[in-house]
Amino acid sequence: MNARFDPSGPLRGRVTVPADKSISHRAALIGAMASEPVRVRNYLDAADTRSTLAAVTQLGAIVERRDDGELVIRGCGLRNALPQREAIDVGNAGTLMRLLPGWLAFQQGSSFGLDGDDSIRRRPVDRIAEPLSLMGARIEAREGRFPPFTVHGAPLSGIDYELPVASGQVKSCVLLAGVVTDATTVIEPIPTRDHTERMLASAGVPVEREGDVHGGFRSTVRNADELELGLVEVPGDQSSAAFLITAGVLVKGSRLVLERVGVNWTRAGFLRILERMGAIVLADLETPGTFQAQEPIADIDVRNAPIEATTVTADEVPLAIDELPLVALLGCFADGDTIVRGAAELRVKESDRIATVVEGLRGLGAVIEALPDGFVVTGTGGLRGGRLDAHGDHRLALLGAVAGLASEEGVEVVGMEAAEVSYPGFAEDVAALVEP
Ligand code: S3P
Repeated sequence: MNARFDPSGPLRGRVTVPADKSISHRAALIGAMASEPVRVRNYLDAADTRSTLAAVTQLGAIVERRDDGELVIRGCGLRNALPQREAIDVGNAGTLMRLLPGWLAFQQGSSFGLDGDDSIRRRPVDRIAEPLSLMGARIEAREGRFPPFTVHGAPLSGIDYELPVASGQVKSCVLLAGVVTDATTVIEPIPTRDHTERMLASAGVPVEREGDVHGGFRSTVRNADELELGLVEVPGDQSSAAFLITAGVLVKGSRLVLERVGVNWTRAGFLRILERMGAIVLADLETPGTFQAQEPIADIDVRNAPIEATTVTADEVPLAIDELPLVALLGCFADGDTIVRGAAELRVKESDRIATVVEGLRGLGAVIEALPDGFVVTGTGGLRGGRLDAHGDHRLALLGAVAGLASEEGVEVVGMEAAEVSYPGFAEDVAALVEP
């Protein structure tokens, strides 16, 4: 499906963005591992998080949707996932594919196949197979590193594992497996999102998180007999909010308030980059380095204003990983060269996001060069417009949509349906904000 996004009039008003995808996946998975029913308020209703509900249902959890929209998940308990004949279909959801094996790895004597769409089949799983094998599980993957793959459950022992790539997904997988070990520690030279640690702590798992913002972090989980989560309230998604925030910064005359967005410091890197670019964005962000079970929430107030170029360094990358395509778009409008380095991980997302962002924005008139681990954009003060192919990647589709709103001639997004995995209804949200 193609969709056109024409140059927009001012975006003004208040908006609620979709619920956080990362936290929704974790609520469904940890809910399925729990012994008591878990209530989830504001679970994301999008294709990726529906895949997670389908997966946990297949594994024996019962998911009910109440009239008020709240989900009730009746879990299987830690060690009682149902054995499967059919592979579990993760669809397009990388987070589901990388976190779920953490739970399956200790279902002793059972084996579970996992598979997904064409994009999933290109995404590496050796990064989780390695630590899970060190803990005692056995993983068989196509060519040793791609889906489809099989997790053979086994008794696990605790490990101290230093992440070779800064990945919140890999860390989360190891920590989920770690809840049945005496102690499991993940060492991260650069901090990544910590939603799993927060939710496990809420579920009664002993969790320690130590470190400082510049020197890396260590997360340790210890044995828990059972998990009890009670109520999870999912905030608005910082990564989805970033698309409207960028539109608000770039479209002349805009003034927007995004309500109840998650502002956990391990997700707020994009807002700090924007602040450096001189954008007018007000929000009460969580202090970097903080660790608490509760996910902090704030309203974000955005106003259109001129912006300057900036350089994003490797230590900032994991805290803004999904928003880096938007930094490239902002760079087109900024004064000077905007540079992103240390972001080779972008190459193994739903698409090779260095290649697709560079090709996509260049096709709209941007002056942008790829680097092996990032890109350089030379600001020209605007963007012509044209056609952008989403390559089946939701963040590319939404990037094209925002580019169109801020462009001179509009953008036709080829494959807009990709946005369904995280932000269904983006065009409707924009339409409601444009003054008639
Ligand atoms: C996610 C972690 C990030 C991010 C993805 C969601 C998570 O992936 O890009 O969209 O929920 O843990 P990596 O951990 O692979 O960087």
